[in-house]
Amino acid sequence: MYTTRFLDLPPLTHADGTVRLPGSKSISNRVLLLAGLCKGTTIVRDLLDSDDTQVMLDALRDLGCGVEQSAQATRITGLGGRLATRSATLFLGNAGTAMRPLTAALAVMAATQGGEFELSGVPRMHERPIGDLVQALRQLGCHIDELGQAGYPPLRVRGAQQGQLNTSAPMRVRGDVSSQFLSALLLALPLVTHATPSVVEVEADLISKPYVEITLNLLARFGVTVQRDGWRRFTIAPGSVYRSPGELRVEGDASSASYFIALGAIAASEGRCLRIEGVGSDSIQGDIRFFEAARAMGAQVASGPGWLEVRRGAPGAGWPLRAITLDCNHIPDAAMTLAVMALFAQGTTRLTNIASWRVKETDRIAAMASELRRLGATVSDGNDFIEITPPTHWRCAVVRTYDDHRMAMCLSLAAFNELAGAQPAVPVRIMDPRCVGKTFPDYFETLFHVAQTEPSNIPVIAIDGPTASGKGSLAASLAQALGYHHLDSGALYRATALRALQSNTAPDDVNALASLAAGLALEFHRGSPILNGRNVSDALRLENTGTLASRISAYPEVRNALHQLQLSFRRLPGLVADGRDMGTVVFPDAELKVFLTAGSAERARRRHNQLISKGISASIEAVHADLEVRDAHDQQRAVAPLRPAQDAVLLDNSNLTIEPSVERVLQLWQSHRPFD
Ligand code: DC
Repeated sequence: MYTTRFLDLPPLTHADGTVRLPGSKSISNRVLLLAGLCKGTTIVRDLLDSDDTQVMLDALRDLGCGVEQSAQATRITGLGGRLATRSATLFLGNAGTAMRPLTAALAVMAATQGGEFELSGVPRMHERPIGDLVQALRQLGCHIDELGQAGYPPLRVRGAQQGQLNTSAPMRVRGDVSSQFLSALLLALPLVTHATPSVVEVEADLISKPYVEITLNLLARFGVTVQRDGWRRFTIAPGSVYRSPGELRVEGDASSASYFIALGAIAASEGRCLRIEGVGSDSIQGDIRFFEAARAMGAQVASGPGWLEVRRGAPGAGWPLRAITLDCNHIPDAAMTLAVMALFAQGTTRLTNIASWRVKETDRIAAMASELRRLGATVSDGNDFIEITPPTHWRCAVVRTYDDHRMAMCLSLAAFNELAGAQPAVPVRIMDPRCVGKTFPDYFETLFHVAQTEPSNIPVIAIDGPTASGKGSLAASLAQALGYHHLDSGALYRATALRALQSNTAPDDVNALASLAAGLALEFHRGSPILNGRNVSDALRLENTGTLASRISAYPEVRNALHQLQLSFRRLPGLVADGRDMGTVVFPDAELKVFLTAGSAERARRRHNQLISKGISASIEAVHADLEVRDAHDQQRAVAPLRPAQDAVLLDNSNLTIEPSVERVLQLWQSHRPFD
């Protein structure tokens, strides 16, 4: 997951390959709640691992449920309908799928078994309405205190032992603000439905019906059938008891699929195909119907059980995309993706019946309108609609994400602006990319796995300098701050030297050394060098490895053999490369080149400190002399001698520690970027 302050997406041009979706948020949190309420143990496979499921798991633990997680499955041992603890304070982040059903379930259990529970969340959660659910629960006889503003969390639910609820009269709940109120009641009522049936009647038109269908489907999996009369009246049979299905598999998230369906429609051209695994024609999620809307806009979609395959439509028929007018009540979350597809359509797209967008993670109508305008689109919006005409001039925008995962995922697709005719194509900066952790922590990694672009579009920052100038630490921190890959090119020379030492290759056998370099199986896992499956961090830093590396790096044959490998590190979303010739030879087109010029006395002092801290004794004079020999060697060799590129920025970091050096280079980088 990217936890950087922002993530810059370079212009992207194509998409191809297979993605596997994380589990559905709606199904995961309902299954967790049901498994926590029923008797016995439920083994849940393919559970979504995200912020919203974490808060639900934490809540279940706090309530005394058994929770065991392994790589294969999550095992939940439920309460069997009986409270194991009489009081708890639950923090539910911004997870509506946890707040609403837990409020209802705890309210009815506290009212009949006794107890007191507090439920709160992040500030935005306290702006998301829950009043209709609270009122419905009060009709039943539940005690609920609104601890902040009336109608909003935080809430306290409480009750006395052997309290009574009035389940004989039909309860009424409004269905036009959030369908989660009805879902929450349907999930809670089986806990208190005994001799007589419980009936829920929906007032006003029910929105987002497919989410209620997920609830009914999962209730059935846990042994409770609900009789449904249209979308107005729901009856839970007397004597309903939750029973664990034993084992259950969560299907992939259909709302998350929408980004990749859109991606296929936009960028899987000329024989490319985007295959999406984890969700398909057999899905129980309403958002799966997003693909019909995508088809209407021009996508070619094939589907089967558990999979979808998406291609761009034929020129003139499905490409450019067709603008549509659509009532999106049945796909409220995925419909946001249509708003971004509209950027690639001819004409004006109008999405209607989306008032529920206003009470989601953020006011999504306002947020979407404002960010699409930032990109250059013409947008008009009203209480329950949005209308989008694509930009004639694309702007290089910094897009805000409002702590809303879907804003970040949707707007990432704007990086394909070249396909919508942007001239020149522009990068897109996504603020706070971490927000995707709510439902799809690896979204950007997954996107970069299938998105393609010309290597020249992928930004490179070159950090060159002499030995012990601190370029390695600087480059690593910089890469981390930007979410970019890091190439420590010195490690490639050192690894070649290490292979030579291991295989007793003579230090002047140039051909043998070049073939070792060409076949180098070196990878980096979380920054650690792995050579032929072994972590070689320490071995690469040994003195004799470094000495040999210095010697063999003067051979043009070795340098050439490592050239291609170095280029292959230029991957999305960007690269920070450090070495001696990053800016001059390997990445001469790097967008920013920095050359470190710390003096040799200061570098000797740092290297000496490093050695001492590792328990290696050395005299500072000897270290200094050795550095100067290496400098001379690096500067005087015939190929790729150490020297700053003509367009490099010289940075004397003699008196700078690592953080201010990083800050300096980040400032330089910002001034090089085309964003406002
Ligand atoms: O930066 P370092 O000390 O890990 O580099 C090891 C050796 O490799 C060093 O003697 C110089 C050489 N090298 C090079 O010639 N070109 C690079 N791009 C990186 C390192």
